Amino acid sequence: MSDDKKQILYSGMQATNTLTLGNYLGALKNWVNLHNDYECFFGVMDLHSLTVRQVPADFRKNARSLFALYVAAGLDPVDNCIYFQSHVSAHAQLAWILNCFTYMGELSRMTQFKDKSAKHEDNVNAGLFTYPVLMAADILLYQTDVVPVGKDQKQHLEITRDIAERFNNIYGDVFVIPEPYFGKSGARVMSLQEPEKKMSKSDENANATVLLLDDRDTIIRKFKRAVTDSDTEIRYDPEAKPGVSNLIEIYSAITGKNYDEVSAEFAGKGYGDFKIAVGETVADELAPIQKRYEEIMSDKALLDGWIGANDARAAKAAFKTLGKVHRKVGLTDLIR
Ligand code: TYM
Repeated sequence: MSDDKKQILYSGMQATNTLTLGNYLGALKNWVNLHNDYECFFGVMDLHSLTVRQVPADFRKNARSLFALYVAAGLDPVDNCIYFQSHVSAHAQLAWILNCFTYMGELSRMTQFKDKSAKHEDNVNAGLFTYPVLMAADILLYQTDVVPVGKDQKQHLEITRDIAERFNNIYGDVFVIPEPYFGKSGARVMSLQEPEKKMSKSDENANATVLLLDDRDTIIRKFKRAVTDSDTEIRYDPEAKPGVSNLIEIYSAITGKNYDEVSAEFAGKGYGDFKIAVGETVADELAPIQKRYEEIMSDKALLDGWIGANDARAAKAAFKTLGKVHRKVGLTDLIR
């Protein structure tokens, strides 16, 4: 298949703090697995991060660090269009237009809005409310076929499809309707301390969350402390055994073994041994990424070059769609 026939893959992450094992297994690892088969755009979603107050200097650093982590994980910034969302103004422009095709009622039903507004009661801003519309604009601008994300983004993908279909129904086939892609395992990595809850970078309990840049000892220690149950059997059963099931899921996402194979491998072994094995597997997986990340971050010129290189490529694709939208809705032609 020639390159220009490849389907489009689009995804991104918020540029806040460091990534978690959830971000890695739910998204980044799948991007790396899939990227050769698609034409890929990966955004550093810095505009989305502004929905929560940021300390400017840290924010800038985190955004660069996220770019470097994408590359360190195995995404070549020459083959793949890795870029900053805020550098391509078409995102904000299309988001405004799509706001006018999105209903207050559907945005009010978004669970992430409800969660985030409860968490940031002092700053329930309009950006938090219209966050999914900006995300829809991100995806639809690139005529995206597939969006690899974790399960927590399922609702955002559904509203993206709804907005696109609504727009297409009025104006004809303007947008490709994107499909979400969830990995077989790892699409919802749970907290190591409260396995009924999603692993999240904002968790106050440091032992609950494995960070992509945690060192080996820290990773293994966090897994040793992982909450399990009073039973002894290593079996996948998220209802009855959420802690153990989460560990099986993590191990499965990294090794590619299915749940039964993991249970068989650890049959007769205790939880203690199992937890250490999972911790070591995670540490082994992350070590080369961490090494490459340090190399990239220590070469400022290299990173700066990459950061500047893809803006035009992303803008070309994005403004093509935005121009089409302008014509369809009756805005005057875009002159760039
Ligand atoms: P963000 O930054 O919250 O998360 C980035 C990616 O990591 C996944 N993820 C998880 N997967 C499994 N288990 C977990 N515990 C876990 N935690 C996070 C998320 O599902 C996501 O795939 N709104 C998006 C960013 C975004 C975006 C987009 C994504 C903005 N525009 C366009 C795709 C396409 C977000 O907040 O991701």
